[in-house]
Amino acid sequence: MSKSTNSRDTVAGVAVPTSLFINGAWRQSNGGRLFDVADPATGKVIATVSDADTTDAEEALAAAAQAQQTWGLTSPRERAAILLAAFYAVQAKRHEIAAVITAEMGRPLAESLAEVDYGAEFLRWFAEQTAHVHGDYGPSPSGAFRVVTTKVPVGPSLLITPWNFPLAMGTRKIGAALAAGCTVILKPAAQTPLTAALLVEILADVGVPDGVVNLIPTNDAGGQSKALMNDARLRKVSFTGSTTVGSVLLRQAADHVLKSSMELGGNGPFLVLHDADVDAAVDGAMIAKFRNGGQSCVAANRFIVHKNVADRFTAELADRTAALKVGEGTIAGVGVGPLIDARQRDKVHELVADAVQRGARALCGGSLIEGEGYFYAPTVLADVPSDARINHEEIFGPVAPITVVESDEEAIRLANDTPYGLAAFVYTGDGARAFTVAERLEAGMIGINRGLVSEAGAPFGGIKASGLGREGGHLGIEEYLETKYFALDLTVPSARNEGAAL
Ligand code: SIN
Repeated sequence: MSKSTNSRDTVAGVAVPTSLFINGAWRQSNGGRLFDVADPATGKVIATVSDADTTDAEEALAAAAQAQQTWGLTSPRERAAILLAAFYAVQAKRHEIAAVITAEMGRPLAESLAEVDYGAEFLRWFAEQTAHVHGDYGPSPSGAFRVVTTKVPVGPSLLITPWNFPLAMGTRKIGAALAAGCTVILKPAAQTPLTAALLVEILADVGVPDGVVNLIPTNDAGGQSKALMNDARLRKVSFTGSTTVGSVLLRQAADHVLKSSMELGGNGPFLVLHDADVDAAVDGAMIAKFRNGGQSCVAANRFIVHKNVADRFTAELADRTAALKVGEGTIAGVGVGPLIDARQRDKVHELVADAVQRGARALCGGSLIEGEGYFYAPTVLADVPSDARINHEEIFGPVAPITVVESDEEAIRLANDTPYGLAAFVYTGDGARAFTVAERLEAGMIGINRGLVSEAGAPFGGIKASGLGREGGHLGIEEYLETKYFALDLTVPSARNEGAAL
């Protein structure tokens, strides 16, 4: 089957571009290949998308490299105006975008709307950051000359986004890159290229110049990124996804010493200390665990609960979890949608089965839901032994394993017993204890009496095997900037004369 140059499929009532976008034009891939996008709630194909090959990827990079020459020289205000226009345009289309997110990745519609709001905020946040990129001026330590620094865009950037937040992960990277003056090639996850296409269309509509944003959906992520990372014109890679893939990309990045940002896997501990407000902790746990059906790298993966509050916390969490309505994201009242695909659902079940086989008890759920789509019953596991795989691997599903501890010390030790260090959560009624415990948790982001850390104005990122760099916050733009330093000698006559002539 072939498609027209600027093809569209209608998904959830929205006409979505299904082509590549290179140098300001929608077009089919050179090889003419297509791939299917399915709704995880039904397993049915909802769109067919042009499948970029390596020649398309090279053309996208050529366009980005060419556009870099001018985009990198635009004024901060010009870039801010475009990003702000994109923020309003995304808001204006929030219902269409949310419907497409739900169709291609399954999340409940209310959560998709929340993602659109969250995702749009990155465009506004980075519009606001453009005018706040500063350099320095000062004497060298000896006083012999002046040290002057400025920031310059790093250059054409490859942005590789995951399927779990198809809009927000795009805006978090594109917003920062464009604000810094970098051009980009966006490679969205093969499961969710449609939301990315809507975003790119909006960016083009609000005036992003040709070649500044290029889109290469592909079913061969490894092939395209390898080809691009082998090309010295690429100067930056930003990836959100698994630690395994992140490590491969870092090895490839080494060849051309590419500036790299990696937002990788997590194994988030959720600590409920003896003096916690249990109701608040359960509220936070429901968000930290079941937002997006647990398919988030900042999801709580392990619940570590003090014995004094364990019975109440466990019973309340199990009741609330059992009451969650599971189903298609378009149905009112649904709190948990399908997992992204059969592979992910089966992996979640493997982890649960392993824990149960080692002695854990499923207080609710514990099984996949037969029938159409990739649904898994929201699950709470008690008495999870420490050697269960679920305590050591990222679940990415609606399963809450609980471990009971006897002290803060034991809680901290278990929390840090992982190669990952992305998000952690701590619930306690004592402000000082909150900080003394949080300071010892090995994580890049810590929710204190709060189950959600994600925020456009805060630095998102991890330590240890969870990644390199930060996205969002004041630091997000820095990932796309290089520091340039001028050594200025004011004693040389030409410098003095030029100054005098002004
Ligand atoms: C992620 O899971 O990759 C991002 C989650 C978020 O931004 O909240």
